Amino acid sequence: MTDSLTVRDNRTGQEYDVPITDGAIKAADIGKIKADDDNPGLAVYDPGFVNTASCRSSVTYIDGEAGVLEYRGYPIEQLAEGSNFLEVAYLLVHGSLPSKAEYDAWVHDITYHTFVHENIKSFMEGFRYDAHPMGMLMASVGALSTFYPDATNLKDADNRHLQIVRMIAKMPTLGAWSFRNAQGKPFVYPDNELGYTANFLSMLFKMSERDYIADERLVRALDVLFILHADHEQNCSTNAVRSVGSSQVDPYSAVAAGVAALYGPLHGGANEAVLKSLKRIGSKENIPDFIKGVKDGNERLMGFGHRVYKNYDPRARIIKQAAMDVFEVTGTNPLLDIALELEKIALEDDYFVSRKLYPNVDFYSGLIYEAFQFPPEMFTVLFAIGRTPGWLAQWLELVQDKEQKIARPKQIYTGERTRDFTPASERWA
Ligand SMILES: CC(C)(COP(=O)(O)OP(=O)(O)OC[C@H]1O[C@@H](n2cnc3c(N)ncnc32)[C@H](O)[C@@H]1OP(=O)(O)O)[C@@H](O)C(=O)NCCC(=O)NCCS
Repeated sequence: MTDSLTVRDNRTGQEYDVPITDGAIKAADIGKIKADDDNPGLAVYDPGFVNTASCRSSVTYIDGEAGVLEYRGYPIEQLAEGSNFLEVAYLLVHGSLPSKAEYDAWVHDITYHTFVHENIKSFMEGFRYDAHPMGMLMASVGALSTFYPDATNLKDADNRHLQIVRMIAKMPTLGAWSFRNAQGKPFVYPDNELGYTANFLSMLFKMSERDYIADERLVRALDVLFILHADHEQNCSTNAVRSVGSSQVDPYSAVAAGVAALYGPLHGGANEAVLKSLKRIGSKENIPDFIKGVKDGNERLMGFGHRVYKNYDPRARIIKQAAMDVFEVTGTNPLLDIALELEKIALEDDYFVSRKLYPNVDFYSGLIYEAFQFPPEMFTVLFAIGRTPGWLAQWLELVQDKEQKIARPKQIYTGERTRDFTPASERWA
């Protein structure tokens, strides 16, 4: 078998051999197909990059049919069970698990960089009382670029590493302060005696107590949620980071673009929609009516189905367990019973089974966040903190990849051509 594609252009009768490498053909090879010499060559039309690979990547592997998610080859289930968020962040960024000394240095460096410049604090205090925390996070991550002009030196590996450490370290500080602003509460400085996630909870919830020590089980549950969100290969926000980063801008600006993409309801907002549905259903007795409405096409069962996963989303299973752990601490949420019953019915119902609709990562995450007493606007901020190591690992891969170029898609022009301009003085006369 030859790994190539023979394409016959019926406009000219000419045949082309297009090599297949790693299950893909190069769009540039398709561009060689021309009807005549004046023709710009055949383009590939793919809005939303549904079937276009934009990079080679060794960060995250997904097999949606089989329900597999691996970071650097390690199954998500094993990482969620036995690792912690900072170790997973190290793995994503460096490609391999740390030795004891590497891990200690990584944790030390990230802990050391949790503080932000006081001007960032006054910048964030300038937002209105009702500013959306995700808008604040996006702006303040972008603002960091002005504090670290050295970050534009992309060629220097140590410099790149420093910016990665800074960003992973500062995201919880910025995220927590965005939350405190909306609450009208004073910003809490990082407590570097605490671990990454415990420190984040302290910056969120500390009031007059000397030390804020969160329940270990809650810390662990949130840490696991961060692990589950840490990367998901070429999703919309990662593509935004790569696309903006391809201009060789500094990584703060590139990650701010990722935060912006995640802000959109099609990307980061489904868990809030799940909560709204569960609240509207209200009690178990109303579930059959709701399911009938979904099957009649009146609405969707939010938190079910996924563009990539056509099997149980591996993250959903872990999140379900995390939800149970959290409710042990916070007391159960009546919405959990509705969610469990919905899932049970949907997994047996032919409508959902035949369409391969399984719970996705968002089905239970909103319930957990609500148990932490986060308002829905904070859900995406939590997602962004978890996703930061993934964005940075992908950015690092991009800036070192010799095959990458500035992102600049083609278009199919559908507008007018070569019209004569008449000045306004004549047109309006
Ligand atoms: C995630 C999602 C957008 C993926 O969409 P997609 O891959 O484009 O799948 P489609 O919209 O083509 O759906 C395929 C079929 O399943 C149905 N379907 C998909 N998701 C459904 C859901 N959540 N509830 C009910 N039916 C659903 C569609 O109506 C369609 O049925 P049809 O073939 O009879 O027309 C979609 O499943 C969805 O809207 N889910 C709810 C929102 C959500 O949880 N988003 C978070 C994703 S992490």
